[in-house]
Amino acid sequence: MAHRIYRSTARFYDLLDLPFESRRYAPIRPQMFAGLSGRALDAGVGTGRNMPYYPPDVRVTGIDLSPAMLARAGARRDRLAIDVELLERDVCDSGLPDSHFDAAVATFLFCVLDDSLQLPALKELARIVKPGGEIRMLEYEYSKNPRKRFVMRLWAPWVRLVYGATFERHTEQYVPQAGLEIIEERHLYQDIIKLIVARKPA
Ligand SMILES: C[S@@+](CC[C@H](N)C(=O)[O-])C[C@H]1O[C@@H](n2cnc3c(N)ncnc32)[C@H](O)[C@@H]1O
Repeated sequence: MAHRIYRSTARFYDLLDLPFESRRYAPIRPQMFAGLSGRALDAGVGTGRNMPYYPPDVRVTGIDLSPAMLARAGARRDRLAIDVELLERDVCDSGLPDSHFDAAVATFLFCVLDDSLQLPALKELARIVKPGGEIRMLEYEYSKNPRKRFVMRLWAPWVRLVYGATFERHTEQYVPQAGLEIIEERHLYQDIIKLIVARKPA
């Protein structure tokens, strides 16, 4: 389903996201890669919105299900003249080697994955990250503030249609079943964008 949605959305993704990117996401994205070293995975790399924030000494591989999104990520990589490997892969079955990455980052990926895919995706990331490695996820959730929640509910059908995403995935509840431990959970934008950091036990 995501594959089909993003074939159409790819063309407009950066434009649609522009107001949110500049005000909400750009200040947060650097934190997703801060302090990483070695090899990192950008899971659901999309059009490569995280690329400007990759630390220069980290070797990043970006994977995505959508060829249309990957084509845009490739163009951004060329514009930024950075060395990033881009692969067309499913995060639930990536075919990448066991314990290959020092860390994995997924920004706004799990809100797109159906509930039935949350655990398979987390298990796959747990498999390809080294023991002791972090999996950092950035996700939306509904605000506890009734007024903001109401506005988010008005937006929800559009978000579902254009991004295949919802605001209520509760990804953190699948983390223990994937054999991971949560080491950090905190909001980075109001009470609607949340960082979840899980670790693969050493
Ligand atoms: C909302 S976009 C986020 C893109 C990017 N991470 C960002 O922060 O802008 C979600 C991305 O996840 C990708 N995606 C959805 N399901 C996937 C899967 N099973 N495996 C890999 N990528 C997937 C979509 O194609 C899309 O590019």
